[in-house]
Amino acid sequence: MIVTLDGPAGAGKSTAAKALARQLGWRYLDTGAMYRGVAWAALTRNVCLEEDSELANLASRLELRFDADRVLVDGTDVTAEIRTQEVTAATRRVADAAAVREVMVHQQRRIADGCDIVTEGRDQGTVVFPQAELKVFLTASPRERARRRYLERTACGDVVSLEAILATQQARDDADATRPVGAMRAADDAVLVETDGMDHQQVVDALVQLVVSRGGKACP
Ligand code: DC
Repeated sequence: MIVTLDGPAGAGKSTAAKALARQLGWRYLDTGAMYRGVAWAALTRNVCLEEDSELANLASRLELRFDADRVLVDGTDVTAEIRTQEVTAATRRVADAAAVREVMVHQQRRIADGCDIVTEGRDQGTVVFPQAELKVFLTASPRERARRRYLERTACGDVVSLEAILATQQARDDADATRPVGAMRAADDAVLVETDGMDHQQVVDALVQLVVSRGGKACP
């Protein structure tokens, strides 16, 4: 069974998707990490971010692998590196390249083939797995998402304002929602889960219930 989890940055998708997969004993696929892995490789190998065909060529030759919580690109552990601001900015460009998306979509379908999987991203329910048995669009209000990010960042000692986070978040939402191919959008048959006022466990419980209601079962 395939469960897709799409939605904007900061809605808690990754944490929820990981916990859901763990609870069910299923595979988890972080497709954002795949785009980030390509961006990291492009930066470290001096591939021009403006050349879609070069980026797609790079993407098709890379070995992107997940090992528990680690992300490996051609055998190098890039788990931390792909979360830097530099890589995040480059990833946006990489994710805009239609030719790269074609390669990623193909790889994502190959990874999911024949398994029970929770797959997370922006286009999983709309483009990659339109036949998924359960599609969830997980979101929270802009202010709530910004507030969560603000708490995370200030807990790490960052000096940042809520307003600045809101502005960056809005720019990211706009970029994700307006990219010509693979734009972030809820599939017509997606279940909308709004997480304002819900804690982590409540979100996971709600997702488990949805999976069960569609006939999904935890692996023994
Ligand atoms: O979910 P994330 O923040 O790790 O995603 C990184 C970037 O990749 C972000 O700009 C959205 C983009 N992305 C995408 O276009 N399609 C996906 N399936 C997953 C992520």
